[in-house]
Amino acid sequence: MPIILAIETSCDETAAAIVINRHVLSSIVASQIEIHRPFGGVVPEVASRQHVSVIQDVVAQALAQAQLTIHQVEGIGVTCAPGLVGALLVGLMAAKTLALVHDKPLIGVHHLEGHLFSGFLTDPQLQPPCLCLLVSGGHTSLVHIKALGAYETLGQTQDDAVGEAFDKVARLMDLGYPGGPAIDRLAQQGDPDRFALPQGTVSSGPYDTSFSGIKTAMLRLIQKLRQTEVELPLADLAASFQQTVTQVLTAKTLLCAQDLGLKSVIVAGGVSANRELRSRLTEAGQQAGIRVIVPPLSLCTDNAAMIGAAASAHLDRGEISSLSLGVHSRLSLETIETLYE
Ligand code: KG4
Ligand code: ZN
Repeated sequence: MPIILAIETSCDETAAAIVINRHVLSSIVASQIEIHRPFGGVVPEVASRQHVSVIQDVVAQALAQAQLTIHQVEGIGVTCAPGLVGALLVGLMAAKTLALVHDKPLIGVHHLEGHLFSGFLTDPQLQPPCLCLLVSGGHTSLVHIKALGAYETLGQTQDDAVGEAFDKVARLMDLGYPGGPAIDRLAQQGDPDRFALPQGTVSSGPYDTSFSGIKTAMLRLIQKLRQTEVELPLADLAASFQQTVTQVLTAKTLLCAQDLGLKSVIVAGGVSANRELRSRLTEAGQQAGIRVIVPPLSLCTDNAAMIGAAASAHLDRGEISSLSLGVHSRLSLETIETLYE
């Protein structure tokens, strides 16, 4: 199996990793969270500039940690869609330069396919077909992994992504950015049954979700509480919100897996770091005879190891990208074949 150097710069983490098939030799992530925190969210132009200043060092560290030189690398994998265009361009230009100068194949990777591969890195024996609940700051989908490279999105959010809902609700509660981890922490001490919240009814499809209703309900609830309470019951609010959201995601995921007769479910993306989601899904899976693969935290948030594992699978099938490969802010998982020659 070839040695892959992978690069990920689609949002606010500059990452590089060395991967052989489903085995990680090194994984370096330089997070920009502290730089964006004062702005309350990711500032695209700031993200691009920061990627430019650290990318070379991050790649050098990934090689050093794996005790390899660039000459031993046999393929360069890189996230080229979807994401922030300026941020993606930095990683793609770095990858193209390395591929051109050192005469290595270039393999463009869809960021969400990378997230799916965090499941295959967690359990190297896992084989399709299986289901993936993909929950991040930009996406909430149920993806049917029919075969490696063949994906069908069966359910999607009709409005906010679940990570976005966590971040917006955290802002209403003045918890700072990013909000997901703050709500997760607070919810541990709260009463999840104190406030009843809407589950978000959706008519578009059985596996679709909607989080704008619960977000608005939280806004109204917080406004009302501010009029009567000296201090907001932050822990109870966080616990009630988190319980409602994780119940919805768990129910939709199991329904979808059972309808399709799938026995393995991967949970992936930044929100899969959420402790209640991890335990609720694992428990419900056990009761239904479905194995839930929960990646370690280092593979849940953005990283390059997952990109390397996806690139390796493409290279294995002879799928290589042209050096004229571009970036795409949006691209569906169903059309990833357009990334290869
Ligand atoms: O996948 P990711 O690192 O970036 C992309 O959006 O691609 O996901 C980031 C999202 C943010 O919305 C963040 O608030 C959320 O993941 N998140 C969490 C937790 N850790 C990160 N949400 C809930 N609970 C957590 N523990
Ligand atoms: Zn991501």
